[in-house]
Amino acid sequence: MTSEEYYELILPYQDALNLLLSRLDVLNHSIYSDGASKPVHTVYSRIKKHQSLDDKLIRLNHETTPANAREYLQDIAGIRVICYFEQDAYQMIDALKRQNDLIVVTEKDYIHHPKPNGYRSYHIILGIPVRYMELTEYYPVEVQVRTLSMDFWASMEHRINYKQDRADKEEVRAQLLKYADILKDMEQSFETYNENRAN
Ligand code: GTP
Ligand code: MG
Repeated sequence: MTSEEYYELILPYQDALNLLLSRLDVLNHSIYSDGASKPVHTVYSRIKKHQSLDDKLIRLNHETTPANAREYLQDIAGIRVICYFEQDAYQMIDALKRQNDLIVVTEKDYIHHPKPNGYRSYHIILGIPVRYMELTEYYPVEVQVRTLSMDFWASMEHRINYKQDRADKEEVRAQLLKYADILKDMEQSFETYNENRAN
């Protein structure tokens, strides 16, 4: 698609992203009682770049048209919510799912069900109503909710595996899986100091 088409395509996704960012901000300071620590450490957001949008459509065997992007891509708008504790992550997820004007399109719990490589995170695609003058339309935003330690692992794994063909691939794979376990144990130890702990 042309640059003009791309910029026109992403406008409503940017609106949906901004709406959801405000929601997350409100939830972050209202989920626990006044004076308690907040669940969220950092929030990152991004709109998929023109090149990666085209690349993904090609990877999926679709022509790179705005219509196909709208039809087949649900991660044009993306938010990453980094929480302190696993409990915080689930509190945020539950609160998001209880926002009754938002639609849960899909969700994947890689926190309780990690990927075979050790990746952990909760992925949820939310349909966000964007109200324009005459009509309301839903746009998907992909939200990844994870803890600091899950984010540390995912960032390192991404960085290390970015260069696809390395000779020590198998060894790295085994090490990463081991580190995922170590990080999970460490996080559970920290959880004993969580003053917002439910039980
Ligand atoms: P995509 O085509 O990437 O959207 O795959 P999918 O539809 O199967 O989605 P999935 O929920 O598995 O993953 C989507 C996103 O999660 C990726 O774009 C990454 O940001 C993140 N992710 C998933 N798996 C991994 C992983 O093994 N390592 C890292 N670092 N990130 C991952
Ligand atoms: Mg995806």
